[in-house]
Amino acid sequence: MKKLITLFLFAIAPALGLAAGGGVPLEHADIDSTDQTSLQRGAKFFVNYCLGCHSAKYQRYNRMAQDIGLTEEQVKANLMFTTDKIGNTMDIAMTPVDANGFFGTTPPDLSMIARSRGVDWLYTYLRGFYMDESRPFGVNNVVFKDVGMPHVMLDLQGLQKAVFKKDEHGGDPVFEGFELIQPGSMTPEQFDGSIRDLVNFLDYVGEPYKLDRQRLGVKVLLFLAVFFVLAYLLKREYWKDVH
Ligand code: HEC
Repeated sequence: MKKLITLFLFAIAPALGLAAGGGVPLEHADIDSTDQTSLQRGAKFFVNYCLGCHSAKYQRYNRMAQDIGLTEEQVKANLMFTTDKIGNTMDIAMTPVDANGFFGTTPPDLSMIARSRGVDWLYTYLRGFYMDESRPFGVNNVVFKDVGMPHVMLDLQGLQKAVFKKDEHGGDPVFEGFELIQPGSMTPEQFDGSIRDLVNFLDYVGEPYKLDRQRLGVKVLLFLAVFFVLAYLLKREYWKDVH
């Protein structure tokens, strides 16, 4: 029985936001997967700020165009490098060997990241870089301790300090919040909005069929409702003679 309960807890842990949060409460990403302009902004942000290091190797450009409401021409002109073809997947030129040399680790493919980490974790992670002189890139992250990724959005978000409170019981210091020490080109509200769009896009990439599935689900339920009425009328008709 105990084993079963443990298994169950493991199974629902990501849903509860307990997944590797490092004790820091996760912020709610509050994304809307039906908002196509948000997905379009997220795609642009991803191409400009992430695709240099991370691939999304299961995502094809033409499929993306169709799903987020852009024409193939718009995607070609704004979201692709000239050497890529519209039927290609979102790959990168950097090889794992190069990456290891630069960062001491390989930036993982982000196709499934929203499904493995969850959207709230991503939202908290991407807003969670803070100054830490002891790290090679001068930053650390509140939900990913000693992360190997530089703060690539520094010019937008600016640099923030993390405030920790000493734990009264002698445990690890408790995270209290951030303090912006050097503003970026965006206000905190604008930056949060951009990260929300980016997370929305990463969530779409993790499950491109989600919107189709939801639309189909509604149709199936409607069909069942109509079918139920017909079946009921038919039943009444048959049983009339029996009574
Ligand atoms: C300059 C290269 C570089 C860029 C640009 C970059 N990253 Fe990273 N990223 C890394 C590296 C390296 C790691 C691996 C960190 C580690 O394992 O310590 C990483 C890790 C991550 C992780 C954690 C993956 C995990 O293990 O769960 C996420 C999520 C992520 N990056 C998202 C992004 C997003 C979104 C962007 C665009 C805003 C981005 N990265 C831009 C280099 C980069």
